[in-house]
Amino acid sequence: MVILGVESTAHTASVGIVTERAEVLAIASDMHRPAQGGIHPREAANHHVEVLPGLVRSALETAHVRPSEIEAVAFAQGPGLGPCLRAGATVARTLALAWNRPLVPVNHCVAHVEIARVLSGLDDPMLLYASGGNTQVIAHASGRYRVLGETLDIGIGNFLDKLWIALGGTFPGGPALEREARLGSQLLPLPYSVHGMDVAFSGMFTAAKALHDQGAPRPDIAYSVEVTAYSMLTEITERALAHRKRDAVVLGGGVACNERLRQMVRTMVEERGGTSFAPPAALCVDNGAMIAWTGLLAFRQGLVSSVEGSAVQPRQRTDLVPAPWRSAVAATART
Ligand code: ATP
Ligand code: FE2
Repeated sequence: MVILGVESTAHTASVGIVTERAEVLAIASDMHRPAQGGIHPREAANHHVEVLPGLVRSALETAHVRPSEIEAVAFAQGPGLGPCLRAGATVARTLALAWNRPLVPVNHCVAHVEIARVLSGLDDPMLLYASGGNTQVIAHASGRYRVLGETLDIGIGNFLDKLWIALGGTFPGGPALEREARLGSQLLPLPYSVHGMDVAFSGMFTAAKALHDQGAPRPDIAYSVEVTAYSMLTEITERALAHRKRDAVVLGGGVACNERLRQMVRTMVEERGGTSFAPPAALCVDNGAMIAWTGLLAFRQGLVSSVEGSAVQPRQRTDLVPAPWRSAVAATART
């Protein structure tokens, strides 16, 4: 079985093609990079409308797959920016109608988690989903993903992006901040904001910007932000492991590209005698393959949609959508 997936929730338009063995046959992506400032939803949507038809062609070519071999068309239904979501959904509906194939709506957060999980080979890990708009510690139970802890204000990636722009850089900030942090060495004081299983970043944003205004070296600010923010994520992940009596962690989402975060989580998990896994960077950031793969899991459960019922859902949370493809019995037994 071969499925095509369309991703367009935010900055990145992407088309992926995967098989039922989770082989990624193709990913064709194009990221909208504003010359300055953050993402403007309408400009990003215009970008997606322009590039998506070419990305579909390019993914089919790379995968050496004909449209007649595609069994279903999946798309990211939410969460995300309304205009961007509508751009991808329109392309997916068009393909489904033109090829006479079922349309499969997919939750973008669940897709980040599922691609990471299948690549990890771990059956029932704790999941740390750290991306632009989301920061969640997640476990599966009774037919859906449950959010055990999350950000109380902004997603960690949006925090890093916003901060990097405030420090004079351009979008995306996470990877640039990672490079800058390698040059830093002094740990500057920043608010460490963990509230039970939840975290918050806006206080750290204000404090880091104030350090910059006072003339603190940018590499030290970047280093201190990374160490502080990733310690917070590591702490809530460890708390979730302890409460749920698990020993494996899988990381997903764009911020899971970060070497320091991977290392900190790995050290914590190994000290507890467990294992951790993070996918290659191309499958951590937004990509069509994760939508295709999760679409395949949903399609096998009959979770298809009519074109009329396929409206995008900009606020669709991780824990709002069913994920019945996982063994409910095994999952409940462990939670
Ligand atoms: P969401 O999945 O919550 O909707 P998104 O789709 O906008 O958010 P992703 O594509 O999953 O986000 O991730 C993009 C984010 O990852 C950006 O904020 C970017 O700065 C961050 N990021 C990418 N690489 C790195 C890195 N090496 N270190 C830290 N952050 C990174
Ligand atoms: Fe994402």
